[in-house]
Amino acid sequence: MNWRISLINGPNLNMLGIREPEIYGKSSLADIEKEIKILAQQQGAEIDFFQSNHEGKIVDYIQEARGHFNCILINAGALSHYSIAIHDALKAVNIPVVEIHLSNIYARESFRQQSLISPLAVGGVFGFGVLSYKMAFLAACEFLAAGQKGKE
Ligand code: DQA
Repeated sequence: MNWRISLINGPNLNMLGIREPEIYGKSSLADIEKEIKILAQQQGAEIDFFQSNHEGKIVDYIQEARGHFNCILINAGALSHYSIAIHDALKAVNIPVVEIHLSNIYARESFRQQSLISPLAVGGVFGFGVLSYKMAFLAACEFLAAGQKGKE
């Protein structure tokens, strides 16, 4: 289906490949986006990529996403753990959200073991590195297709 899906990446995810590769892997964000683009083509979906290190820019982007996207995939990085502003923005636009993390945040430092995104997400994938993104993308497509079938 011609779903319009947005993939948002938060702070420091532009450093993937360089940043703590033992935790986050060797792929760059461009590598990940390339893989998701291939999946999107296979699914006949449109994909939009956005990355920012700035909370307010992510809030602006989410607000502007209203009416443009069927689903938001988001790895908000460290902001996942404390940004009430991103939580509120996602709630305000009323677009289904799928949360992504490369690492298993629940097996790491205690300050990473809370997510303010999870309570409003339809689901999430964490701990599988780049595969978390691919699984999240495919889950979003299945989720949207299931909703469409429900309406038929
Ligand atoms: C992360 C986990 C966060 O705790 C961290 O701040 C990140 C990446 C992940 O993908 O595993 O930047 O979201």
